[in-house]
Amino acid sequence: MGSLSQAFVNLKGKKVAITGDTGFKGSWLSLWLHLAGAEVFGYALPPEGKQNHFSQLQLEKIIKHEDGDVRDSSHLINFMRQAQPEIVFHLAAQALVRRSYDDPKTTYDTNIGGAVNLMEAVNATASVRSLVFVTSDKCYKNIEVGRGYRETDELGGHDPYSASKAAAELVFSSYFDSFLAKRKNFGAATVRAGNVIGGGDWAEDRIIPDCIRALSANKPIILRFPNATRPWQHVLEPLSGYIQLADFLLHSAQEFNGAWNFGPAESDKFSVFDVANKAVKVWGSGEIQVDQTTPQMHEAGLLHLNCEKANSKMNWFPKWNFDQTLTNTVSWYRQAHDGSRTRELSESQIATYMEKSR
Ligand SMILES: NC(=O)c1ccc[n+]([C@@H]2O[C@H](COP(=O)([O-])OP(=O)(O)OC[C@H]3O[C@@H](n4cnc5c(N)ncnc54)[C@H](O)[C@@H]3O)[C@@H](O)[C@H]2O)c1
Repeated sequence: MGSLSQAFVNLKGKKVAITGDTGFKGSWLSLWLHLAGAEVFGYALPPEGKQNHFSQLQLEKIIKHEDGDVRDSSHLINFMRQAQPEIVFHLAAQALVRRSYDDPKTTYDTNIGGAVNLMEAVNATASVRSLVFVTSDKCYKNIEVGRGYRETDELGGHDPYSASKAAAELVFSSYFDSFLAKRKNFGAATVRAGNVIGGGDWAEDRIIPDCIRALSANKPIILRFPNATRPWQHVLEPLSGYIQLADFLLHSAQEFNGAWNFGPAESDKFSVFDVANKAVKVWGSGEIQVDQTTPQMHEAGLLHLNCEKANSKMNWFPKWNFDQTLTNTVSWYRQAHDGSRTRELSESQIATYMEKSR
């Protein structure tokens, strides 16, 4: 049995707390853990926007969600004490780079202050035995080294979002080393993944939601930077790593404490145009227009993650290539648009992904 399937079995009946369960990644993770038979407790701000995966899944009916702010330390501690989780996943964050320029203070307060409050809450809750703390590939100092970043590389960040994630890493390791390393039967790790795509993301300024908004309104997809290349990864890929890691931390903390990269294969770097083109194909109709008025900018060398540590120590590898990633993503939106029940869509994609992991 693969380690993901094993983790799925091991998590049955476990109490799990997730901050950020109303967000894109958090809602997929909550559903997945619910399917594994875990008792899920969520803590986050209410879901944003009319369309969001949390509400589409009707997650509030199957998990115990509490509206709460990670900047409110006593509320977060209280939530954790009430839930008494064995496993904690910390995802709550101001997660958009563009928004971090518009509102750096909220970004720092949420991502750094929230990290402090989360570590305080874990420290105050003796039931917690496994902590998976989500940061980002953007926590690395981007020095355009031309190779994948390793977990031991220097941290840094130019924009407020990246800086807040690098700072959250320091908060995590300082709390761990100073207070939590001594706790018996306790393991904790930070996880660093890049941009992910998948059904149910409705965020502003992201290529897939932008494509879907255009396609479903029968409008052309307008691309400003068609030639920009990015690594494309399905949301289930890093989440599968987080779930396995949470399970490994329960059983062999010493071996799995620390930082972990979960990135896509280098071969899955495609242009924004390739993505829009594939989206049109899977959707079944649509048109792409390139906005010629936007000056084409020089792009900083993209961060790429070296995932050898997760490959060798966790036997974690991405399961879906570019084609499968895009097909699963866009067909989710197409079927939802055509009236399919979103809970069933998401559950069936998780089941397909799990099949691949056996
Ligand atoms: N989506 C990506 O491509 C990506 C890439 C790398 C890292 N990440 C990280 O993964 C995590 C989840 O990202 P996402 O894409 O699901 O983001 P998202 O914006 O969809 O969700 C963010 C979640 O955090 C919650 N939140 C925000 N501010 C809060 C506050 N003050 N108090 C409590 N909850 C708060 C929101 O309510 C929501 O549940 C974040 O930590 C993000 O930085 C995401």
